[in-house]
Amino acid sequence: MHVSGPRSSRWTAYLGLLSALSAAFAPAVAVKEHDFKKCHQSGFCARNRAFADHALASDTWQSPYNIVPESGAFKDGQYQAVILKTSNDGSETVRLPVTVSFLESGTARVTVDEEKRQKGEIELRHNSKARKERYNEAEQWVIVGGTTLDKAAKVDYEDKTQLTVKYGPSSKFEATIKFSPFSIDFKRDGKTQIKINDQGLLNVEHWRPKIDKPEPETKEGESTEENKAEEAKGEEPKGEDESTWWEETFGGNIDTKPRGPESVALDISFVGYEHVYGIPSHASSLSLKQTRGGDGNYQEPYRMYNADVFEYILDSPMTLYGSIPFMQAHRKDSSVGIFWLNAAETWVDITKGKDSKNPLALGAKSKTSTHTHWISESGLLDVFVFLGPTPKDLTAKYGELTGTTAMPQEFALGYHQCRWNYVSDEDVRDVDRKMDKFKMPYDVIWLDIEYTDEKKYFTWDKHSFTDPIGTGKQLDSHGRKLVTIIDPHIKNVDNYPVVAELKSKDLAVKNKEGSIFEGWCWPGSSHWIDAFSPAAREWWASLFKYDSFKGTMENTWIWNDMNEPSVFNGPETTMPKDNLHHGNWEHRDVHNLNGMTFQNATYHALVTRKPGEFRRPFVLTRAFFAGSQRVGAMWTGDNQAAWDHLQASIPMVLSQGIAGFPFAGADVGGFFGNPEKELLTRWYQAGAFYPFFRGHAHIDARRREPYLAGEPYSTIIAAALRLRYSLLPSWYTAFRHAHLDGTPIIRPMFYTHPSEEAGFAIDDQFFVGNTGLLAKPVTEKEKFAVDIWIPDSEVYYDYFTYDVVPTAKGKTATVDAPMEKIPLLMRGGHVFARRDIPRRSSALMKWDEYTLVVTVPRDGKRAEGDLYVDDGDSYDYQRGQYIHRRFVFDGGAKSLVSVDADGREPASVQEGEWMQKMRSVGVGKIVVVGAPAAWASKKTVKVESEGKVWEAKLEFTPAEQGRAAFAVIKKVGARIGADWKVDFS
Ligand code: NOJ
Repeated sequence: MHVSGPRSSRWTAYLGLLSALSAAFAPAVAVKEHDFKKCHQSGFCARNRAFADHALASDTWQSPYNIVPESGAFKDGQYQAVILKTSNDGSETVRLPVTVSFLESGTARVTVDEEKRQKGEIELRHNSKARKERYNEAEQWVIVGGTTLDKAAKVDYEDKTQLTVKYGPSSKFEATIKFSPFSIDFKRDGKTQIKINDQGLLNVEHWRPKIDKPEPETKEGESTEENKAEEAKGEEPKGEDESTWWEETFGGNIDTKPRGPESVALDISFVGYEHVYGIPSHASSLSLKQTRGGDGNYQEPYRMYNADVFEYILDSPMTLYGSIPFMQAHRKDSSVGIFWLNAAETWVDITKGKDSKNPLALGAKSKTSTHTHWISESGLLDVFVFLGPTPKDLTAKYGELTGTTAMPQEFALGYHQCRWNYVSDEDVRDVDRKMDKFKMPYDVIWLDIEYTDEKKYFTWDKHSFTDPIGTGKQLDSHGRKLVTIIDPHIKNVDNYPVVAELKSKDLAVKNKEGSIFEGWCWPGSSHWIDAFSPAAREWWASLFKYDSFKGTMENTWIWNDMNEPSVFNGPETTMPKDNLHHGNWEHRDVHNLNGMTFQNATYHALVTRKPGEFRRPFVLTRAFFAGSQRVGAMWTGDNQAAWDHLQASIPMVLSQGIAGFPFAGADVGGFFGNPEKELLTRWYQAGAFYPFFRGHAHIDARRREPYLAGEPYSTIIAAALRLRYSLLPSWYTAFRHAHLDGTPIIRPMFYTHPSEEAGFAIDDQFFVGNTGLLAKPVTEKEKFAVDIWIPDSEVYYDYFTYDVVPTAKGKTATVDAPMEKIPLLMRGGHVFARRDIPRRSSALMKWDEYTLVVTVPRDGKRAEGDLYVDDGDSYDYQRGQYIHRRFVFDGGAKSLVSVDADGREPASVQEGEWMQKMRSVGVGKIVVVGAPAAWASKKTVKVESEGKVWEAKLEFTPAEQGRAAFAVIKKVGARIGADWKVDFS
């Protein structure tokens, strides 16, 4: 087996386990960038960049794509026509059917196909069995709603050269489709927001037969010398660069490309927008950088080609483990965006500039626009256009199309304790006991690959894990869970029924010849389940039944790793692109979907694990695509125990949120290496604010369960864990909102304050849901104060001290952050819920009373918030079995009320078991931060609920030395699920 650089360190690690589990620290080596392609090494990327260079440099360039006007027809919200492409030398015209759909949601969709491939009128080389069409099934995996055509969309203007359609809510959106060359301008309220093919970079590489001619000598992935010379002279290349049309090699792997060149590319301009966000996952800033060189910019496009890029480098557009081709553009008071539905390898170039084509528009008032160039290797050109106008509209419309975050298991919001590896039942039980001993709450302990019998998934190591059920029961006694890893590579070995069935049932991914694909991963020689196949998914589900995967029980959940897929001896550590999946689609077409299909298979396996058991699955994935949010959580992969990786994790997790997959986190502590104690502690403090909060460590890393940190660190970490647990009700409520309308769970400044330009590039602080909690974790060594940018004129209180933070809108406030403190502010005007009794796990908090915190706004008038609760486990919430309260503090009326947030009448829901039990759960305490001075003499308040009135004690603490006055009402006594009113008058 050929083992390249990073692999060898991984394999050393793997073999190292056999000799010594204590493992000394091996110095971290960054990812070998040259193991992954740069644009010039990816034929289609290089060709399209060259195409762009040529088009943009020329004054006379005209895009060779023209709509045939007579071919066009508009009907029922949809315009269909044929685009004619004239080939480079003018000898050929190619028919490209185009559809522009206007959807009821106000979203528009542009799809371009290629007639010859559509009709199968092409010849495949090398006797390939691959499908001839452009891949057209991404939609089936990704889109779950919002595609109803807008029958009210109307042609507003039409002549021989163009057509204007008005659509969307109150017809305020407009699309002008120009015929020659083909382009579309999208307007909102009469103003252009997005233009496609305005720069003329549309490129659909059509099918053509290979004409054999003597090959010019080229280096791997580079254009011909002849063309290069022409390019250098600034002349138009005589012919297209054909050197990578029919075959490409990289790292010794040959891609046979049986369908020849087939990329699709398009320029999309965001007119007047300086910031673009999204297209995760990259270890980059939240506001994306320019990619065509220049000071502080990247040289390379952002790449999306899911890959096992362990020990990734920071501040880079290099691809990582998952991809979501959704981009938002934002300027003051306006957001628009696009979703590029294509699962093949994709690159996005970003440039920003004043409108150079119209010099008269330049001047002090001229706006910067962002130009993007999207380039995919194969498949349809399929792009959705969103016209906003708010960031929330963007995430909601995108959520409507691709689905929203699944309501999670409530435990999944607690703390997860992982490492590679807990080595035996006894090890797991010992960690479990120690977490209790050190009073550290946690919900889940994880088993990495070493729990298996020689990396055979669905088995247990016979020597170390002799009683997994006993272990599961110990965990269950405190409401805790076990997550076991199951990867998609199946060990190719005799006497392993799983692989025998995979083969006999013919459910594995095939190689280009159509035989079972064999490659290397953790177990050595392996085959890969093809989760695109319905039969494979059905079989996969059978493996998770309790009597099949013996040793698992109701509190066992699953981790799917290596599903990019990672293939150690494959090109760029993944599958050859000419491999074949179900339906004979080439791997090239579906690569970025692969991880999602696998997680989806596991998700469905868990739903059907036991007849009659309807519980929400928990599945963590490493690889993902648009839509993965519907089936679980993700983490950012193999980071390092280094301060800059802690820093990078925050924009990465924020990017996930605005791209519709907010259930995200990074390995707390850093995967590779050994964090110093200060770093570990700061990482726990930051991790307590990741939606997905898991400590994890590489097999070579020293043990670092939080109780091992020693004092004062262990106590400080325990406090961070408890803070997370006390705020779980608010986190769960934020998940509910994400589930309903796609709102991110942690929210960047541009999202919450879309008018404040100074906040648009800030990506190291965020709000938690709609709680008004503003966090800025410390991510630097020996840093004991942070500057928090304040986005508005509201009052901000320190979460821990209730100090009023001296500040003004648009200024920064310096907040002390000694080791034990997480910089966390409370914005005035909110009400949020906590549970303050420290417990060992979230399950044990289930019936605890709530604390409500009211932060009185600067003007004293109104504070608002909500709380969502359900059983945290089943789907009963879909039948109304939930509590959703809205709390309104009214300074004028001097009251705090709780009403049903969804306007349901108390008697309208037939209460099931969980709701009945919740009847005994009340509001324990109400804390009013910034309480009016007039309350000083108040000793009691009146509480009214369910036809009764009673008094509760109020304790008032006056303001002093910068600290706000606050009042605590104890033993409020109202039920959390009931309407009530607290009267402060
Ligand atoms: C790679 C994953 O990214 C890492 O988290 C895991 O520990 C190893 N695979 C071993 O399973």
